[in-house]
Amino acid sequence: MHSTTTKSQRGGGVIERYREFLPVSPSTPIISLGEGNTPLIYSPRLSERIGRGCEVFVKNEGVNPTGSFKDTGMTVAASFAKQAGFRWVACASTGNTSASMAAYAARGGLRSLVLVPDGKISWSKLSQALDYSAVTCQLRTDFDGCLRLLQELVLRAPVYQLNSINPFRLEGQKTLALELLEQFDWQPPDHIIVPGGNLGNSSAIGKALLEMRDLGLISRLPKLSVIQAEGANALVRTLSEAGGKQLVPVQAETQATAIRIGNPASWKKAVHVIEATGGACEQVSEIEIAQAKAEIGAEGIGCEPASAVTLAGLKKLVQQGFVKKDESVVLVLTGNLLKDPDFTMEFHRGDLFKGASAEAEAPLKPLRRPPIVLDATLEAITKTLEEAEKTGA
Ligand code: F0G
Repeated sequence: MHSTTTKSQRGGGVIERYREFLPVSPSTPIISLGEGNTPLIYSPRLSERIGRGCEVFVKNEGVNPTGSFKDTGMTVAASFAKQAGFRWVACASTGNTSASMAAYAARGGLRSLVLVPDGKISWSKLSQALDYSAVTCQLRTDFDGCLRLLQELVLRAPVYQLNSINPFRLEGQKTLALELLEQFDWQPPDHIIVPGGNLGNSSAIGKALLEMRDLGLISRLPKLSVIQAEGANALVRTLSEAGGKQLVPVQAETQATAIRIGNPASWKKAVHVIEATGGACEQVSEIEIAQAKAEIGAEGIGCEPASAVTLAGLKKLVQQGFVKKDESVVLVLTGNLLKDPDFTMEFHRGDLFKGASAEAEAPLKPLRRPPIVLDATLEAITKTLEEAEKTGA
């Protein structure tokens, strides 16, 4: 007889595959949904867009069980919560952490409490938390306000905090880097580029790279670079204005709601890994994010807006000469295209940047594919097909 959990482990979750690297013991009850094992995809078209002989790969974390990279950390942290005997787990979230936590809690028979900023997370992410039966509170504040309250709550109530400051989550998220290097046959790429929000992911990937170097699994370090939205650029400012010595918090605003964070918890760790790997930190505009997202979509892969900052950031790093001729680059696509359909629909319908000048929007035009409403006749469809062939749109 096997328990459900034992059976699910056969799906090859990250604890099963990387147990030696993770803080689990033989008696840890493993909560897994078959996370990890995400594809590393070489992209000839993105490579061509970037030019200069660069090879662009994407690591598509959006195909994880709940559609984001959060699942690899959540399997480890939820398993620990179960082992430690907690009945409740809780997080503040911009959407993906809450979806992931709720799923792993449900899977493991734990109850979950979600705190999200009211009106500032996508419906898809919110609906995941509901379906996975979390107690979901939409607070009239931003992500930073949700996190502050949660930190007070855990001092008073017996709930286990599953935000990315949780060390078990960071350990689990290290497996992204292990898996990536395994997929490269332990010959590291020159660059790894990640989006930066609360900065847990960059910290975890950086920690894994340094540990693999120390263990002799890789002989040189990829440069780890972090990209933020211009409107949520606390790390960029921390490095440029305070030399990485103290956090420069910001009032965050961006349509890439997953990274709408002004007071990132893991900023010190992120500064450390950027410096230790020789990486960079850049910011990109809302229009650059939208353009990059559509370009990744046009590749048949797709991602959510926050993930697209990686491609937008890469373009800047190439312009600055930081990414050099013929170098290989991995963009970590953190969340699935279906995580934020409103953004995608507004983009294609031309409604995303109401009031922006035609000049600012010019790079977006050729990427738009609005849905076409037609009379149900063959003639109408044929005409549309001919038009599309003629214009290339
Ligand atoms: N990309 C996506 C799709 C995210 O959901 C997040 C963070 C990030 C990037 C940034 O990662 O915070 O480790 O620097 N989302 C968190 C959440 C904050 O609550 O889902 P980070």
